[in-house]
Amino acid sequence: MTTSTAAEPSPRTHPRPDDRPSASECPADAATDASAGKRVKLAARDLSKVFGPRPERALELLAQGGTKADAQKLGAAVGVYDVSLDIHEGETFVLMGLSGSGKSTLLRLLNRLHEPTAGQVLVDGLDITRLSRRELLAVRREKFSGMVFQQFAILPHRTVLDNVAYGLEVQGVGADERRRRALEATALVGLEGWEAYYPAELSGGMQQRVGLARALAVDADILLMDEAFSALDPLIRREMQDELIELQARVNKTIVFVTHDLDEALKLGDRIAIMKDARVVQVGTAEEILTDPADEYVEAFIEGVDRASVLTAANIMQPVKETALLRDGPNTARTKMRRHGLSGMLVVDRERRVHGYVTAKSLGAQLEDPDAPRDRIDPERMEPAVVVDMHEPLQGVIGLASEASKPIGVIDERGRLRGVVVKGAILAALAQPGQTGNGGVVAGSGVAREEGAGV
Ligand SMILES: Nc1ncnc2c1ncn2[C@@H]1O[C@H](COP(=O)(O)OP(=O)(O)OP(=O)(O)O)[C@@H](O)[C@H]1O
Ligand SMILES: [Mg+2]
Repeated sequence: MTTSTAAEPSPRTHPRPDDRPSASECPADAATDASAGKRVKLAARDLSKVFGPRPERALELLAQGGTKADAQKLGAAVGVYDVSLDIHEGETFVLMGLSGSGKSTLLRLLNRLHEPTAGQVLVDGLDITRLSRRELLAVRREKFSGMVFQQFAILPHRTVLDNVAYGLEVQGVGADERRRRALEATALVGLEGWEAYYPAELSGGMQQRVGLARALAVDADILLMDEAFSALDPLIRREMQDELIELQARVNKTIVFVTHDLDEALKLGDRIAIMKDARVVQVGTAEEILTDPADEYVEAFIEGVDRASVLTAANIMQPVKETALLRDGPNTARTKMRRHGLSGMLVVDRERRVHGYVTAKSLGAQLEDPDAPRDRIDPERMEPAVVVDMHEPLQGVIGLASEASKPIGVIDERGRLRGVVVKGAILAALAQPGQTGNGGVVAGSGVAREEGAGV
């Protein structure tokens, strides 16, 4: 199920162009979704984004029933294809789908951070795709808070308060007003008392709060969040989700929240749009999606029919309790293991790239061997580590796990250790439909922080 063709039944909450008014029939005052009786804050109409040369050619191909893969042969990457949706005022609208399905591209089309290849984006009924650069900036300023990303994007040499005030500063808001609003936003996200601290003094979760506060300080109606909590460890992540819900009850923004994690989507979303291969395949409340999945792809997502092909290593990995550093001596490494109740650890360098695996037993042997080095782990006694890419489907991880007798290191595109998979977690993930495990977890060990890597 990796391709989609025009022959597929059309998704039920995504009407074809012929059953709905064209964009020109959508006047600015018609910003109400009659069926729901709710005010439409943000809408996409037949929205497409193709990257690469000759994007129109790719759109033609898709219109004729071609697939995303066909378009790729022309050198075009289809980010979003023919998406129409209404996002209501005050709702938290979640975009969910696998990696590469087009979530971020769609999010960026909504404030025209990406220029659409075709289609319209309506903000309070106004088609922003027709605006000049200057008009667009004015609309962004008035209607959109900043975006909140997975990477914290906070400025290391500024205090918490100055980071929170940054968006206002860019807007030219005066110093007093800036300070007042920044203090307010800082308190909103629970960082009262931390105003004068620097980012390096904060935990990952707190840094993400700073990013959130910066967006909130701008105090516009629409908040766009792209995997904002995905880099946090599971406990903090859940805490942030709870806080966002609580916060939303107070500030009542229109939030578009991107995630690839089903639990997060179900928890946060008033409605959820599921994306697959650049299209939106279903829009509905969590309940609607759970009880009436539009197609087998959605079903696989929610029912665990084929969880092994939907989940990836990143979904089931756990934080790394502890690692040995290349420069650790055998005693240091063994003490770390003992403190964490481990019988073995992955060995990493300062960039958290994995170099091998070492067991308590081999360290013991090294310490007893008078000829072995004392100042570092003996490379001769290291075993090769088993590692897997974060995006590896669970199926592949299962294959590896059945052979490996040690935890599997999960690495990112840059080869850095982000988590570990233990056998039990795989079974748990397969056995628990509706539980997508830890989502995107990062290595949260003390060592990661000491080394200035990790968060
Ligand atoms: N700037 C770009 N240039 C070329 N292709 C792009 C660009 N941005 C996205 N794409 C392509 O568009 C498609 C959708 O990407 P997008 O980043 O929107 O996916 P996503 O659902 O956000 O994935 P992830 O969960 O990994 O963040 C992918 O095939 C991607 O390669
Ligand atoms: Mg993305």
